[in-house]
Amino acid sequence: MDDFHTLTATIERLLHIRCGNYKEDYIKRRLSSRMNAVSIKEYLVYNKYLLSNPDEQEKLRNALTINVTKFFRDKEVFEIVKRELIPEILKKKQRVRIWSAGCSSGEEPYSYAIVLYEIGLTNPTMDALIIASDIDYEILKRAKAGVYERPALDNMTELQIKKHFTLQPDGKYEIKPHIREKVRFQYHDLMRGEPVAKYLDLISCRNVTIYFNEQQKNDLCKEFHNGLVAGGYYVMGLSEYLGKEMEPLFRPYRPLLKIFVRQ
Ligand SMILES: C[S@@+](CC[C@H](N)C(=O)[O-])C[C@H]1O[C@@H](n2cnc3c(N)ncnc32)[C@H](O)[C@@H]1O
Repeated sequence: MDDFHTLTATIERLLHIRCGNYKEDYIKRRLSSRMNAVSIKEYLVYNKYLLSNPDEQEKLRNALTINVTKFFRDKEVFEIVKRELIPEILKKKQRVRIWSAGCSSGEEPYSYAIVLYEIGLTNPTMDALIIASDIDYEILKRAKAGVYERPALDNMTELQIKKHFTLQPDGKYEIKPHIREKVRFQYHDLMRGEPVAKYLDLISCRNVTIYFNEQQKNDLCKEFHNGLVAGGYYVMGLSEYLGKEMEPLFRPYRPLLKIFVRQ
């Protein structure tokens, strides 16, 4: 085994991150940023350092699982969710189940929760739940805490902020219980091959697969197909795409906004 693969085998064992399923370039770039930070040039030297240093293990996990996100990221997508997708789901039943896969620090699932809350004001019998999952335990803790700096809220109106957040003395914003209670956070590795639940109405997996290789992206698509009801929605990130092979599984709904319907 070469030095790079010795190191990735250690990472898989220690951090349970399956490097082989990510693009090799991506893993190499993230590794090199950590190795530079600790002034190590050789994969094998870093391997040894990693094995004996739990603090570095956490730093590497953070480097490999980039967590950038914000509330209502790509506002126009959430407009369509509110105006078209949820009303369409509600035509058939009063129960709405959403999975935010790769939810990072919670901004995405809480954005869906805000949309559902707003719809629920005129639709009190609606029963809504959002399952939010990530592979990064630390980020899940932050998601559950639900406390944010002001820039994360930039895509929201003042009214929405007032309604759904409590301004704390330190200037941070805490999500209010009526939104928090709609989201259930859990650990889940998207490379496991099993969805968190079945008969879901909408799966939002945005800005996660950009780091996955083609095979893994296709496997994930099948996992989502398996988790959605027929006619359910798959919402991807704007820079992500559905591979040719997966086109029989999903038909485009709003192709530019990367919204698809399960066949
Ligand atoms: C850039 S964030 C995207 C957050 C949010 N979906 C958005 O679009 O704003 C990517 C998230 O995917 C998570 N992730 C990466 N690989 C994963 C995997 N195999 N299983 C579950 N989550 C993963 C990372 O931990 C990170 O929190």
